[in-house]
Amino acid sequence: MAVQMKRIQKDIESINAFNASPGSGITRQTFSKEYQGAAAYVLDELKKIGAEISIGLGGNIRGRIPGSVAGGPAIMTGSHLDTVAHGGPFDGVAGVAAALEAARCLVEDRTPHRLPVDVVVFAEEEGSRFGRALLGSSIWTGKIAPDLLHLIADANGVNYAKAMAQAGLSIDDDCPLRSAGLKAMLEVHVEQGAVLEKKGCRIGVVEAIAGIRQFDVTIRGKANHAGATPMPDRLDALQTAARIIVAIDEMAVGSPNTVATVGRIGCEPDQINIIPGVVRFSLDVRDSDKSRLETATAGICRNIAEMCADRGVTCEIGELTHVEPVVLNDGIIQLLEKKTREKNAAPLRMISGAGHDAALVAALTPTGLIFVPSREGLSHCPEEFTRIEDVALGCDILLAAIVELAQ
Ligand code: GLV
Ligand code: MN
Ligand code: MN
Repeated sequence: MAVQMKRIQKDIESINAFNASPGSGITRQTFSKEYQGAAAYVLDELKKIGAEISIGLGGNIRGRIPGSVAGGPAIMTGSHLDTVAHGGPFDGVAGVAAALEAARCLVEDRTPHRLPVDVVVFAEEEGSRFGRALLGSSIWTGKIAPDLLHLIADANGVNYAKAMAQAGLSIDDDCPLRSAGLKAMLEVHVEQGAVLEKKGCRIGVVEAIAGIRQFDVTIRGKANHAGATPMPDRLDALQTAARIIVAIDEMAVGSPNTVATVGRIGCEPDQINIIPGVVRFSLDVRDSDKSRLETATAGICRNIAEMCADRGVTCEIGELTHVEPVVLNDGIIQLLEKKTREKNAAPLRMISGAGHDAALVAALTPTGLIFVPSREGLSHCPEEFTRIEDVALGCDILLAAIVELAQ
């Protein structure tokens, strides 16, 4: 039986019914009540097909469809349920729905498979709650020690471990993911750019995923009276930050593939008649080439320090996320291309500028990423849209690849 578009649509709609910002995009922070509602829906669907459920390190979910031989390395597939604030309905959810539907077809059709197939939901992919991208997969793959979960806190000071406990989650498998336990990882994801749409292609096969560096930057000047302090005597943290932010944009524009973003900014004391004493902002730098990424990041950080020194203010730059660019496995790329052609579609090789948990799992096992088109390239915003037909085609290719890999 082919994958069923209606079921994929129902999964996507059911998951997105758990939303903290109805009418204003989708907001589902990791371990929030909306997140737990969406996770419970996915767990129920997995239980219906007899999957063996476990909660791994970091609160990552796994639903295992056992293979015909005991043990054996698994074919892993899935994505994430957390969203950015006021994001769209497809980022992450499309990949979870595709994984779920592929698993259903495998079970219902009694497709013979020797190896287990694991449907996974990675926690805190976006970093919207705890401030670091790919946090769940960083913990599961052993890149971050689980002890750190007591130190990494959200904006209200609730640490990751406590947030998990408050959500009623307890870990029943505390083994990190290991190469020996995996044969491959496959993720379906919306493109989040406009390349597929512009080229009229329905399927992208990702060759490389950009690396990410994320930082918290704090600039400290001196809060003082807005009326009584002459301009030359000011140590205005916000005026310095403004110049730095313009320079960051100019530096990134000057490099062929580097992108740099200041997405979050806060100012203290945040009053109309006080010169800002402290400014905190985020910095996100990405490139698919490691040396360009390192050069751009080092240049931006040096520039921040020099501009602060020139203006008599101080700065601290704390690294939050450090993910290297990844070249994905050629054998998996070729398999996905073959399966795409078998479905009468033309695969397009492409680079992912967005981060994905697959980038971390790729260090452990051959990994593939299947892209489906995003309308007008919009993502991380309420207008994000992908046709269900395209998610279903991605799911069809995913299923065909799983069946071949799991033999
Ligand atoms: C997640 O979508 C990211 O690329 O930060
Ligand atoms: Mn995503
Ligand atoms: Mn995202």
